[in-house]
Amino acid sequence: MAKQEDIFKNVVSHAKEYGFIFPSSEVYDGLSAVYDYAQNGVELKKNIREYWWKSMVQMNDNIVGLDAAILMHPTTWKASGHVDAFNDPLIDNKDSKKRYRADVLVEDYAEKLNVKAKKEIEKARTRFGDAFNEQEFITTNPRVVEYLAKEREILERLAKGMSEDLADVKALIEELEIADPETGSRNWTDVKQFNLMFGTKLGASADSAMDLYLRPETAQGIFVNFVNVQKSGRMKVPFGIAQTGKAFRNEIVARQFIFRMREFEQMEMQFFVRPGDEMQHYEHWKEARLKWHLSLGLGQENYRFHDHEKLAHYANAAADIEFNFPFGFKELEGIHSRTDFDLKAHEQHSGRKLQYFDAELNKNYVPYVVETSLGLDRMFLAVFATSLKEEVLEDGSSRTVLKLPAVLAPTKAAVLPLVKKDGLPDIAHQIIEELKWDFNVTYDEKDAVGRRYRRQDALGTPFCITVDHQTIEDQTVTIRHRDTMKQDRVAIADLKSIIENEVSMKNWLMKM
Ligand code: GAP
Repeated sequence: MAKQEDIFKNVVSHAKEYGFIFPSSEVYDGLSAVYDYAQNGVELKKNIREYWWKSMVQMNDNIVGLDAAILMHPTTWKASGHVDAFNDPLIDNKDSKKRYRADVLVEDYAEKLNVKAKKEIEKARTRFGDAFNEQEFITTNPRVVEYLAKEREILERLAKGMSEDLADVKALIEELEIADPETGSRNWTDVKQFNLMFGTKLGASADSAMDLYLRPETAQGIFVNFVNVQKSGRMKVPFGIAQTGKAFRNEIVARQFIFRMREFEQMEMQFFVRPGDEMQHYEHWKEARLKWHLSLGLGQENYRFHDHEKLAHYANAAADIEFNFPFGFKELEGIHSRTDFDLKAHEQHSGRKLQYFDAELNKNYVPYVVETSLGLDRMFLAVFATSLKEEVLEDGSSRTVLKLPAVLAPTKAAVLPLVKKDGLPDIAHQIIEELKWDFNVTYDEKDAVGRRYRRQDALGTPFCITVDHQTIEDQTVTIRHRDTMKQDRVAIADLKSIIENEVSMKNWLMKM
């Protein structure tokens, strides 16, 4: 099995074993691509949300928050284009009766060619050592040239088929002899579009019930409230509205744990700007969002921009911030210049004016919008997977440690009496009573102190505070740092400021 797969399996099992993420309704064998955040996961998720909210809303005097309802008037989704165009191309295997995303089948095939090319490159690197010139090898080695050219050709034909004629996508699947990944059958139906929105009903009687959708993005709740917020908050363009909340998509290929879920959470901000100024704001938000990610210290090499060449009909520029997940670089956040598409569409469908009077220009206009859209669960996965480490220590033993950015850690400190007697538990409880007003702290007296340290390492707790017999004499404790395992003797009175210094959002956000 590939090492990457092992790492990812380890992430999923650690998340369950240490109370971060459970499969939804597991007693009934779970519900595919739906997950529950457990006692530690809910804290980590809350801290990520808060870190985003602080940096977007609290730190920007021209951005305000919103919490729009999940259920919205159904015309919202007609106007936004989701009813007509929020589709995935699906294909069924007639023998296995399994359903797949046609584009993913083709992409997976193309990815295998890419993997083959990479293997050739790595073999050559080992063979030639320092003398290896990767760029030259890629353009001259016949096998690598062939693999990469074929990959490019397939992806180009896929993109064309997706936008022009789905019959071409089916023809491509047949030509490449792509088989059902589970059964090997090549007996395929035609490719059909499938809408990803979950429908539901409002009202009690079957006749009068109104068909609604569970929102597939939080953004539309912001657009339809644009005038309400602008007028009631006396906001001047440029200004932003930020929102976090659940979104629902009936994803067909829901895999890779919490990377692609059917119920997930988004953290979105729509920034309303003067028409014509959008590119300058788009560039600003691209950089600002990357800086926010980098402030968490997960490693600059784990991020890259992917600028979209083919744009959605409503966008005039778009980029993803991609992250190096255990299964490779994938989209983490999207930054989109959405023009005036959404506000204009809601004007047309509602008959209401969604405009802004710009006193400086002395005219009304529909603002342009630059959007930043980050999946909270995807962010959780990026942080969690990158932080999970297996370390071999100097004495040859090993430890599992979750090196979460301290600002996001679910529990900031564990207070441990060295032994369960001589009044040490009482002092530990007194310390907890003091610290719990400012930090999430926990008490643990079970097992030898070394094992307790290891357990807190695996939970990502940045500090362990140990109360011993010297504490009774001089009001000092040892404080152990998770990442270095270094222990310092400090006064109980100094604990708050020591912890504060490492975990305060201010200190972390100042790195932006
Ligand atoms: N309002 C724009 C919008 O929704 P998107 O690219 O469809 O754009 C934005 O989604 C972000 O939401 C993605 O970058 C990703 O982080 C997250 N996301 C989208 N679909 C998801 C899913 N099925 N599961 C988890 N996160 C998802």
